Amino acid sequence: MTAPLTLLILFLLAARTYAKVFYAPQELAQYRYDFIIVGAGTAGNVLANRLSEDPQVSVLVVEAGISNRDNLDIVVPFLGVAAPGTSVDWNFTTLPQEGLNNRSIHFARGFVLGGSSSINLLTWNRGSNDLWDRWSELTDDEEWAWPSIEPYYLKTSHLVPPADDTSGEVKPSTHGFGPVEVSISGFPTELDDRVLETSHLIGGRFSFTKDLNTGKTLGFSHLQSSIGNGTRSSSATAYLDPVLYRDNLDVLVSTRATKLITDSTNAGIPIFRTLEIAQSSNGARYNITAAKEILLCGGVVGTPHLLLLSGIGPKNEIESLGIPSIVDLPDVGKHLADHPLLPNYFSVNSSNTFDEVLRNSSLFNETLDEWMASGQGLFVDPPANTIGFMRLPEDSIAFNHQPNPASGPLSANTEFLFVDGFAALGALQQPAIGNFLTVLTALVSPTSRGSITLQSIDPFTDPLIDPALLTTEFDVLAMVQTMKDVEVFISAQPWTNFIISPFGDLANATTDTARISFIRNNSVTVNHPVGTARMSPKHTSWGVTDSNLLVKHTEGLRIVDASIFPQIPECHPQALVYTVAERAVDLIKQAHGVGITLPLVH
Ligand SMILES: Cc1cc2nc3c(=O)[nH]c(=O)nc-3n(C[C@H](O)[C@H](O)[C@H](O)COP(=O)(O)OP(=O)(O)OC[C@H]3O[C@@H](n4cnc5c(N)ncnc54)[C@H](O)[C@@H]3O)c2cc1C
Ligand SMILES: *[C@@H]1O[C@H](CO)[C@@H](O)[C@H](O)[C@H]1NC(C)=O
Ligand SMILES: *[C@@H]1O[C@H](CO)[C@@H](O)[C@H](O)[C@H]1NC(C)=O
Ligand SMILES: *[C@@H]1O[C@H](CO)[C@@H](O)[C@H](O)[C@H]1NC(C)=O
Ligand SMILES: *[C@@H]1O[C@H](CO)[C@@H](O)[C@H](O)[C@H]1NC(C)=O
Ligand SMILES: *[C@@H]1O[C@H](CO)[C@@H](O)[C@H](O)[C@H]1NC(C)=O
Ligand SMILES: *[C@@H]1O[C@H](CO)[C@@H](O)[C@H](O)[C@H]1NC(C)=O
Ligand SMILES: *[C@@H]1O[C@H](CO)[C@@H](O)[C@H](O)[C@H]1NC(C)=O
Ligand SMILES: *[C@@H]1O[C@H](CO)[C@@H](O)[C@H](O)[C@H]1NC(C)=O
Ligand SMILES: *[C@@H]1O[C@H](CO)[C@@H](O)[C@H](O)[C@H]1NC(C)=O
Repeated sequence: MTAPLTLLILFLLAARTYAKVFYAPQELAQYRYDFIIVGAGTAGNVLANRLSEDPQVSVLVVEAGISNRDNLDIVVPFLGVAAPGTSVDWNFTTLPQEGLNNRSIHFARGFVLGGSSSINLLTWNRGSNDLWDRWSELTDDEEWAWPSIEPYYLKTSHLVPPADDTSGEVKPSTHGFGPVEVSISGFPTELDDRVLETSHLIGGRFSFTKDLNTGKTLGFSHLQSSIGNGTRSSSATAYLDPVLYRDNLDVLVSTRATKLITDSTNAGIPIFRTLEIAQSSNGARYNITAAKEILLCGGVVGTPHLLLLSGIGPKNEIESLGIPSIVDLPDVGKHLADHPLLPNYFSVNSSNTFDEVLRNSSLFNETLDEWMASGQGLFVDPPANTIGFMRLPEDSIAFNHQPNPASGPLSANTEFLFVDGFAALGALQQPAIGNFLTVLTALVSPTSRGSITLQSIDPFTDPLIDPALLTTEFDVLAMVQTMKDVEVFISAQPWTNFIISPFGDLANATTDTARISFIRNNSVTVNHPVGTARMSPKHTSWGVTDSNLLVKHTEGLRIVDASIFPQIPECHPQALVYTVAERAVDLIKQAHGVGITLPLVH
């Protein structure tokens, strides 16, 4: 261990208290709380923070994963790509994906305090105004429209200067004053000016947008990330750590919610206020009771998994495993939507890409030492500094299959991220030699829908995960368009003498048939799944929660996480999860007449 690393760990240990984090159920002093939060993830920690503002209200957070301490992959932005597949990841694998030539792919989810906000790629998008207006239409509830949502978004986050303190290419007035820190890149790369110049040169669908967080998530721009002072800002660092000292808040890690228990009814409606928890498949079970509500924040896999294990979901599926059906809710686990991601690699005429840093361990160590000593250098940023969101062309053949599925004219169909090196996120490993540009393209308005289903009654066995990526004609044709748009983009003047050639199979993907084959061979996920417990208008038979996030036909249960999204956002979703959670706080406080709202200062 290097000396600066030791110093960093000592600093983290000294600065934070562990007092309120418990490692086993038997350590808890009580088994009854006002609120029990399942999952200390992105949304769960927002609730933990805001509900425990009132010292009269007791809160327990139960987290399956581990502590977020002392893990450089989590803390250092550039190293975030290394976190999936380690001890802080659930390590899910999908079913074979027919749209991906039957490949099964890794499906990362945070298994750690902060949940997926501790392992994600940090991109910060709050969504277009018309995205939120669409949610309002889908739920028949004005409170989800942007004018009502904006105050909640402003509570989530605030802008900070980037690590190198250059002037911000942002519109500060549209940003908020909440705990998550947001900044643009702090270490310029050789790509940044090329991307922005190209956008200005081509214009039209490739136009420049100064700040993508002003209501229109469309255009090429500087990437904004959940980073402060060159360090990851997650729901654990921003929302949980600062309030761990509170006497009325307990956090229990390495413990799973295994079942929601009902033992009474109200006018025929089952009341769920008891949660069964355990640390292993055969380990002891403990019942914890919530005087007010159990708040389900287990995320897009964890939440439907727990509901299904508890007899809440599609009756036939549940009964076929021998679990008694308690509430027949056919949508639980259904409508899983995700963004497919395609890495497009090019060999480049440069020795400034980060490729050598990943191959040469002394260079890597020097770069890490620089980050530790001064908070500067390559590692202060995620692997991309620039981003673009585009609409498909009006005359795209994808629209022969269906009208534009995007929320509205301010929302995109496709996305581009520019990486100054080989981003080994897909099927390929980094080559042993060479310098590369990766253009990551994604479909952000997909129409394919998959599912989460039970395969076992053991809560410690993963459910079956089928995002069904690229299973519609529209989705495949839209991905083909991303490849053509990349070809146009990198043919522009700023890339002359920089790009040598497409790398690997991309070189031969020059017809639509070959492009489709390339897409099916190489696509993975951006890790943006949503919708497995989607909300719907109060009196519809479909949907899992009503527009106040209460689980239909039950009492005592509310869902607050990405599973309730009624439609997949045409952008990166984490800021939307924080925003949903801030709105949920008000719904919960109103429902129970609890809570004080502390003045929001930062
Ligand atoms: C690798 C990766 C990269 C991403 N990149 C970006 C990005 O750049 N920008 C962006 O906006 N979004 C990104 N995302 C998506 C974003 O992080 C998620 O959409 C968001 O964090 C989901 O929040 P959540 O609260 O729904 O779930 P999570 O944050 O995943 O929280 C769920 C929590 O519940 C816990 N849990 C689950 N089941 C149980 C149980 N039975 N008992 C107890 N605890 C349980 C989990 O361990 C976890 O801590 C990325 C995600 C990943 C995985
Ligand atoms: C995920 O896989 C890695 C590598 O095999 C392993 O070290 C880690 O413990 C796994 N995570 C969990 C939560 O089991
Ligand atoms: C994928 O698997 C399905 C079902 O087994 C099969 O019908 C199909 O031909 C396979 N596709 C490819 C490309 O192998
Ligand atoms: C939890 O509560 C249920 C229902 O009351 C009961 O059947 C079960 O035995 C309890 N479990 C424990 C560990 O107390
Ligand atoms: C880089 O640092 C790691 C971890 O401290 C160490 O194991 C490795 O030997 C170092 N590499 C070099 C070339 O110094
Ligand atoms: C690795 O990086 C170090 C430090 O920058 C450098 O001195 C060394 O020559 C590099 N090794 C190789 C094989 O390029
Ligand atoms: C940012 O980091 C630097 C060096 O790592 C440190 O000196 C400074 O105090 C930090 N600033 C804040 C606001 O945390
Ligand atoms: C590489 O860059 C140099 C300097 O700009 C230029 O002279 C040369 O032609 C470039 N090579 C290729 C293959 O583009
Ligand atoms: C491209 O196709 C040609 C002709 O089939 C073949 O010779 C070449 O190896 C292919 N290149 C790549 C990178 O696959
Ligand atoms: C896709 O993969 C198959 C099997 O490896 C290969 O034969 C085919 O050439 C690939 N297609 C493209 C366009 O790379």
